[in-house]
Amino acid sequence: MAERADAVIAGGGLIGASVAWALRGRGLDVAVADPGAQSGAASAAAAGMLSPFPEVAGSAPAFELLARTSLDRFPAWVAALCEASGIPVEFRALGKLHLALTEESAGTLRQRARQPDAAEYGLEWLERERLREEEPAASPAACGALLVGRDASVDNRALTRAAAAAAAAAGVNWLRGERVVSLLIEEDGRGRRAAGVRLAGGGQVRAGVVVIAAGCWSAGIAGLDPAPPVRPVRGQMLAVQMPGAAVRRVVATESCYLVPRGDGRLLIGATVEEVGFEPGPTPAGIAALATAAAEAVPLTAKLHMTEAWAGFRPGTPDALPLLGPDPVVAGVLHATGHYRNGILLAPVTADIIAALATGAAAPVAIDAFSPARFGAVREER
Ligand code: GLY
Repeated sequence: MAERADAVIAGGGLIGASVAWALRGRGLDVAVADPGAQSGAASAAAAGMLSPFPEVAGSAPAFELLARTSLDRFPAWVAALCEASGIPVEFRALGKLHLALTEESAGTLRQRARQPDAAEYGLEWLERERLREEEPAASPAACGALLVGRDASVDNRALTRAAAAAAAAAGVNWLRGERVVSLLIEEDGRGRRAAGVRLAGGGQVRAGVVVIAAGCWSAGIAGLDPAPPVRPVRGQMLAVQMPGAAVRRVVATESCYLVPRGDGRLLIGATVEEVGFEPGPTPAGIAALATAAAEAVPLTAKLHMTEAWAGFRPGTPDALPLLGPDPVVAGVLHATGHYRNGILLAPVTADIIAALATGAAAPVAIDAFSPARFGAVREER
């Protein structure tokens, strides 16, 4: 017999769980099809950097607004999730240091701190001596650093557990070990409309709203035509154990980033590899990261390596997420393709999808993220 819900979510990672919790908060009956800990799932593989500051020049203004809106939501959202789930989640709002390892990069970063939007990101150029005071473990070879004062970080694994637990505690029907294989679609006289999903185990969930939150596996859900153009982009990471709190802030260079945790772990990432679903990590990938990390923070070379792993970012052709209605099938909402920013964008994604699913306007402009930008437009008949 089919389960029934107002909304069914394909994917039980951080995005799926956050959306489920938000929808439940608006009074909907919600089911989540959660395949479980898939190897390479992005929610667990991420480092939890919360950085709306554009890592590359020229990123879309609409994306920067989306990212900043989400970061603004983060502290209260994490606190609410902790309370609802009873699971503590480490959230650190100490900013990020972009180290300048060459004079050329120092010139660029110094200049960046003088741009008109500097205050929005909390940008401040730190000369070598200030850097030594602020982060003594940073390489003495660094010429200085750009402090991005508003950046933060979160323990993404604890956060994902907390979001799932909060959703389940609120009454979300959490279908553990279930994967959505296809949409159930009906013709309603005006076109094609979602009627629910079919699960790999043979069951069905009937629902008028279907949320696609399956990360890099989203394209494999049958019935989406065009399929969302989401592909896996592998990222390798490692973790070392620090003596005490040797590194306090997120530290980044052009080749790597280092994210400290309160338990003394220092997460080091990440490669960006177009290798499909090829599992990792690889010796070459981890060696390159270890070398880059030692250039930024020399003591890392001698620390005990406690973990190495790889995950698949859900990449899209323009590196922007897919947020909003499917261009063809009414009732399908996309919350996928978050690429390098799925953790950061979880709260704003949940707010957007909860608004759209209940007939309200999205709380932030989402035109730039419309799934329709890649394909067919729904024909009203
Ligand atoms: N946002 C970090 C990464 O994609 O590696």
